[in-house]
Amino acid sequence: MINIKLDANQTLGTINKNIYGHFSEHLGRCVYQGLYVGEDSPIPNVKGMRSDVVEALRHIRVPVLRWPGGCFADEYHWEDGIGPKETRKRMVNTHWGGVVEDNSFGTHEFMELCAQIGCEPYVNGNVGSGTVREMAEWVEYVNSDGDSTVVKRRWANGRKESFGVKYWGVGNENWGCGGNMLPEYYANEYRRYQTYCRNYGEHKLYKIACGPGTPDTEWTDTVMKMAHDKMDALTMHYYTVPTGVWTDKGSATDFDEAMYYQTLYGALKMEDIMQGHLAVMDKYDPEHRVGLIVDEWGVWHNVEPGTNPGFLYQQNTMRDALVASLTLDIFNKHCDRVVMANLAQTVNVLQAVILTEGGKMALTPTYHAFDLYKAHQGAALVAHTLKTPENSGVPQISLTASKKDNVLTVTLSNTALHNPAEIRLQPGAQVKTAAGRLLTGEMNAYNDFDSRPVKIKKLSGISVSPDGVTCALPPCSVAELTLTL
Ligand code: AHR
Repeated sequence: MINIKLDANQTLGTINKNIYGHFSEHLGRCVYQGLYVGEDSPIPNVKGMRSDVVEALRHIRVPVLRWPGGCFADEYHWEDGIGPKETRKRMVNTHWGGVVEDNSFGTHEFMELCAQIGCEPYVNGNVGSGTVREMAEWVEYVNSDGDSTVVKRRWANGRKESFGVKYWGVGNENWGCGGNMLPEYYANEYRRYQTYCRNYGEHKLYKIACGPGTPDTEWTDTVMKMAHDKMDALTMHYYTVPTGVWTDKGSATDFDEAMYYQTLYGALKMEDIMQGHLAVMDKYDPEHRVGLIVDEWGVWHNVEPGTNPGFLYQQNTMRDALVASLTLDIFNKHCDRVVMANLAQTVNVLQAVILTEGGKMALTPTYHAFDLYKAHQGAALVAHTLKTPENSGVPQISLTASKKDNVLTVTLSNTALHNPAEIRLQPGAQVKTAAGRLLTGEMNAYNDFDSRPVKIKKLSGISVSPDGVTCALPPCSVAELTLTL
């Protein structure tokens, strides 16, 4: 029996709903075919946005969506993506597959997509190959209501009211694909670019500086030292590469038990890497005014055999669902500083929650993990104590507990491949009702377009007594317990 103690009356802070955010780049079939098919497509759509995908994203309550990249962001020129589609500039997407990007999905389409999903837009501006003026005018275009020439272009393109974008990224991975800058240079550029990203009317920008992509803290230290007073948040990127070798990351579906545990172990490194950067942030910002945004995370496998290597299309198994749940537990635990996270990437790219093929759609195990976790959005984190066995350095049980009104939600993962887990939860308050949902399967079980074996079912066998709430979690599973107090 694994005992878990909670104190439902002691909460540790609010879990920002934006921790459950996603990321969509002009990469492979994420935007085109995945999210956007165009109004003339036979695939059901509203203003070009795939209806099945939008509905699925609404269901997991996606709170915020980052766009247009990624590396693509620092090559993206927003003016190429507005106005009549037939006159929009065609460019080569040099980062991702060398395909021609026709810019038919631009600012207006992204705002329309966010409106349909019911999420906040997070726009990542171009520092690497753009100009200060270009970024300043993009902010003016989306947020100003004055009758300037820039705003009149928006009107001419069919939108009278400002869009009211809040989250604004100033560059992406500027230590790499975003310009190969040194930290001092970027920090100065950040200070300059953000100066001209103005607030218009009620629309106050939340300015996001580019942060680190490795455990090394030099970038974080320099950027925080030189610019912390000019930012609302700093980003961090961390991808789990199962083998640890970028040139052969491993198959998404064909792996053994050792590789399963190695992948989860790799995902858990998020904690240490984050701790390193958080310590530096604490040095310059002890009041925690500046948030940390992990705006790219997830598992990066080899692409599916036979697919374009530049499109980063990979399958998604129960192993990936476990990576998601363990990682979300880490973000929730650090909700005093982690204000947003964006899984890479929403549809058809990397650890996608949705895969599409023509008019067909499959929800991945990772999608279902996000479904099980959605009640934590905006809830109060509840402290827990737990002693758990380990396998290959991976704790058997990981969890998040949170409270909203009189509902206590506990999400639990059993990472063990052979051992079920008998759980006794002592919530520290009287429980009136208990219900549960469960996601389980073989470690390499996945959903595709002809067969979708991995889905959420009811967790039965929950019992409530004065000693607590007990239930059994099968091997390789993620569960949600909903307890009313
Ligand atoms: O998500 C794929 C790529 O990974 C992004 O474009 C880039 O920011 C990161 O290196």
